[in-house]
Amino acid sequence: MPTLPVNLPHHEYSIHLKPGILPRVGEIVRDLTAHPGAFLITDDNITESHGAVVSKSLNNAQFSLSQAQLTADEALKTLSTVSDLYGQMLEARLDRNCPVIALGGGLVGDVAGFAAATFLRGLPLIQIPTTLLAMVDASVGGKTGVNFPLPQDESGYSELGKNLVGSFWQPRAVIMDPEVLRTLSPRDFRCGLAECVKHAIIADRDLLKFLTDNSRVILDCDAECLTTLIERSVSIKINLVQQDEREAGIRALLNLGHTFAHAIEPIKQLDLRHGEAVAIGLCAAAACALNVGSLTQDEAIEIHNALKLLELPTKLPQPVDHGQLLLAMGFDKKVSDGQLRIILPDGLGAARIVNDLSLEEIKSGWAAVSGDDHG
Ligand code: GLY
Repeated sequence: MPTLPVNLPHHEYSIHLKPGILPRVGEIVRDLTAHPGAFLITDDNITESHGAVVSKSLNNAQFSLSQAQLTADEALKTLSTVSDLYGQMLEARLDRNCPVIALGGGLVGDVAGFAAATFLRGLPLIQIPTTLLAMVDASVGGKTGVNFPLPQDESGYSELGKNLVGSFWQPRAVIMDPEVLRTLSPRDFRCGLAECVKHAIIADRDLLKFLTDNSRVILDCDAECLTTLIERSVSIKINLVQQDEREAGIRALLNLGHTFAHAIEPIKQLDLRHGEAVAIGLCAAAACALNVGSLTQDEAIEIHNALKLLELPTKLPQPVDHGQLLLAMGFDKKVSDGQLRIILPDGLGAARIVNDLSLEEIKSGWAAVSGDDHG
């Protein structure tokens, strides 16, 4: 079974990746702690059987289990939800050594992770991601947090700023069972593939070829192929996180496509999930890179082809005013020192942070993903 080590200056942990590993969660967590209790946080989307398998496995490993359930709704990824969790943690009389186990998608990992990071100044956290997106991205690297309302506009309306409040809190272990991905809706599953394409563009051109060549098998959720894909994809993230745990520099490459994605994701009429917005964001970033000469036409086409074969969108589903999008990008928390920081591909298999992209160049990115999806 691939066990991928994550070695950080003050913390080391393992990512356990294996089809069918879910019933072994209890023994893996027991190897990490002798604590009598565990606090399991899931969401209402979790397939009942996954929750039951994990609970049984923890009980078998002699953990006395308390549980909390979140609603998997981005609008409820708030401090108020975290506050409710604190209440339940208090009621369950957790002490500082009690492991908190986050079982579910990225939202559970982020919210449960933030509660674990802050309750009693920090409890040990185990991430058990059950979506592809959470496996290849959210569960690894220690980012936790919630949304927080941005300043109101003139009409009094305010958007939720994504992940504006949070903390870096590394898990003690991450446990991934690719078998559980079979129970995802195809749409949710494909959203995770966008993050795999992102990793490939940033660091591994061969992975882009793997995704393209194996798109059918991947979409059919072949466990062996998915294990290879997750291992390769997560390894790219581990490598960047190990170099730059707190995103002072190179880790920001993982935001490729995200500054564009965060501008379109909240627009309700577009009805885009995060991974779909990222796929469109990758195309916008590729178009900017083409415009500034850091990507060739053939390379941009390679990115589009991979996304299309993986049944991900490459264009906005309906036109959006570019001014609105530029404004939304300005609010993105990746604005550093008054400059918009954008990540662009630098050929395939490399990326770079760009601070001096002109408004016209950013507009060219939006123009490339606007209109009907004929491309
Ligand atoms: N999702 C990007 C990061 O973890 O840095």
